[in-house]
Amino acid sequence: MDDLFSHRLEEIYIVQSTPEHRQKYAQFFTPYKIAQFMAAWVLGGDREVQAILDPAVGLGVFIRAIREQLETSKISSEISSEISSEISQVNIKGYELDPQILAIAQRELNNLDQPPNIQLSIQLLGQDYLFHDWEYKYDGIIGNPPYFRFQDFPDRHLALQELSDRLGIKLSGFTNIYALFLLKSIHQLKENGRCAYIIPSEFLNSNYGKVVKQYLLDHGSLRYIIIFNFQEHIFDRAITTSSIFLFACDRQNPTIEFINITAVEDLDNLLQKINTYPNPQKPSTHKHLKAGIKWRSYYQETQTDKYQNLVDFSTYGKVSRGIATGANDYFLFSSKKIWELQIPHQYFLTIVGRASQVANSIFTQQDFEQLVINNKSVFILNAKDLENPQIKEYILWGESQGIHQKYLTSHRRPWYAIERRLPAPIWVSVFSRGGLKFIKNEAGVRNLTTFHCVYLNALGLANIDLLFAYLLTDVAKNIFADQRREYGGGLEKFEPNDLNHSKVINLEIISPSATIEILSYYQKYRNSLEDSQQSSEALDRLNSIFIDIL
Ligand SMILES: C[S@@+](CC[C@H](N)C(=O)[O-])C[C@H]1O[C@@H](n2cnc3c(N)ncnc32)[C@H](O)[C@@H]1O
Repeated sequence: MDDLFSHRLEEIYIVQSTPEHRQKYAQFFTPYKIAQFMAAWVLGGDREVQAILDPAVGLGVFIRAIREQLETSKISSEISSEISSEISQVNIKGYELDPQILAIAQRELNNLDQPPNIQLSIQLLGQDYLFHDWEYKYDGIIGNPPYFRFQDFPDRHLALQELSDRLGIKLSGFTNIYALFLLKSIHQLKENGRCAYIIPSEFLNSNYGKVVKQYLLDHGSLRYIIIFNFQEHIFDRAITTSSIFLFACDRQNPTIEFINITAVEDLDNLLQKINTYPNPQKPSTHKHLKAGIKWRSYYQETQTDKYQNLVDFSTYGKVSRGIATGANDYFLFSSKKIWELQIPHQYFLTIVGRASQVANSIFTQQDFEQLVINNKSVFILNAKDLENPQIKEYILWGESQGIHQKYLTSHRRPWYAIERRLPAPIWVSVFSRGGLKFIKNEAGVRNLTTFHCVYLNALGLANIDLLFAYLLTDVAKNIFADQRREYGGGLEKFEPNDLNHSKVINLEIISPSATIEILSYYQKYRNSLEDSQQSSEALDRLNSIFIDIL
């Protein structure tokens, strides 16, 4: 039985099941200590808890922790009130989609004995939580829902529709399934009910999260957000980057406290704090949270706050997205395809479309020529007239293939016209892991939407090398990171306006001697790229110089 009050079951299951199976159902398991903490919140307070829900059971870690906690809280409440024990009834209901894990959970949970003076009943259902149970309300809800990338979640549209219909909110198609679980659970809380959820915090800083955050604010029951800043990956990656959300559907002041923790042991201290809820009064610093902004600024010191000599990136230029064709296979050509179709060269512009085509931070004419030699699709059709018979034929062929009826092409006049965007002197990656990547476009070619275009104004162009030397550094990337959107699994995205609103160093305060030093290290870095190496020493030096100035 002691094994049930530990992570042992999950450890055995991980060895005995395949990663593919676990991935199919998004099975990540909550460490027992975290489950205990969450169970303490759900059962805590001076209230009767009879109906409890676990919407995504797995091996029942929360049900086991609740069972353990029921004994502890029963004993302590009896000691403090000295009332003779009465039998109370506690019903736990759990949902689990995977029949295999459900069978194991069922078998193991049967081994739980009854806590003293409590009639505990556990009902596990092999159904999809999102489409069932809407009519019930609970005193306690505890969960670690599945997290799927939205593409991997087959019933996504149905589930989004179900939530939107039931809750009267319009959710974006990007909304992660865990947010749907959360919203449904909040809706199912009874008066005085409590909920504890462990989920990624990325929705706090993403676009689709705005509606979710607004719902949470309107509901008024969110009390604590505990953000994990664990240095070591002691658990599954999914858990390490998660947060615990604690809700109490009571009439207390609806303030939300953000708490950062750096190790699981920090939960011991936190336990004392949540055990005294709602007294002493929680700090009310975050009374007026706004759903429309990234909540990172409420719980993390931003890099931008740390430095003084910053100006808006828009001081030096403007970021816009790259060219979207709506049908890359049709509009992009390799030199071989051009040759085969005999379309004259004047009907093409040069373009880069894939991140893999750009290996270094400086993209030269030579790099471009190499892509041409390697027969990459680096020419974009620019049918400015249809006088040439080959081009006319290609356009008619496109129509026979329905290219003109695709979403983007059907909105263009004529449908085969490409967006008018000049080559940008600097590109920046749209998606990244571990920091933005800026590229100096010395080849003067255009770019598709894989990169955003950085169009410099006169001030930016006059200082392009100095500015670009700065953009290469870690400190610059960290400051930009304040504006990132998170997509889970460490993937980050920047929209053009995220970058337009970011800060960069004020180039005007750089002294002439520092400018000379920066440009000489920049030159060293450039030379190292030409020798097919990347001088990390020059980059480190540049980073230190800029940090000193900031
Ligand atoms: C992230 S795991 C958490 C398991 C367990 N609660 C824990 O914390 O260790 C989510 C569980 O939900 C199950 N699941 C996935 N989609 C589900 C759905 N739509 N309804 C109910 N359960 C689901 C998965 O099979 C998996 O066991």
